[in-house]
Amino acid sequence: QARKLFDYNIVLIGFMGAGKSTISDYLSTMFAMKIVEMDQVIAEREQMSIPDIFSTYGEEYFRDLETGLLMEMQSHKNTIISCGGGAALRERNVVEMKKNGRVVLLTASPKTVYDRVKDSDDRPVLRGRKSIKGISELMEQRREKYEAAADIIINTDNKTVLKVCEELVQRL
Ligand code: S3P
Repeated sequence: QARKLFDYNIVLIGFMGAGKSTISDYLSTMFAMKIVEMDQVIAEREQMSIPDIFSTYGEEYFRDLETGLLMEMQSHKNTIISCGGGAALRERNVVEMKKNGRVVLLTASPKTVYDRVKDSDDRPVLRGRKSIKGISELMEQRREKYEAAADIIINTDNKTVLKVCEELVQRL
């Protein structure tokens, strides 16, 4: 029987393909927590896909929407907030994440990420970078910001979803 364990929110951050959505789904089932997939909420509210928001209004506009949503979520509890991969790049977003609860960074190797994202076309920042080398370079550029934002860092390479969730819960 799933139980309500958390009186605050869990914020999942990390590179595209690090496993944020998969881990969120699993955790929410395990612990009867609500789930907010930020990209999905933003796309629904804007009535536009993420690539269309980027191409129509630009990245800054998208990041503003992320900030607004992170602020809004602070009045919620027991929710897993699955952030878009770029949310932690903006300092203001990180401040708002911290007010929600624990910030968990999921990591994966460039090869793992490549295998997970290679067949989808819904990530505008990966256009022209869809190779292990391209992913690795972008990951390196972002690493410091991701790590600075995180309270807990969990590598997901070669681990089952269950193993990652167990590790996460132990370290909360
Ligand atoms: C982005 C990651 C995407 C999405 C947008 C920008 C990024 O989310 O928010 O395409 O800058 O890393 P996922 O990590 O869920 O793919």
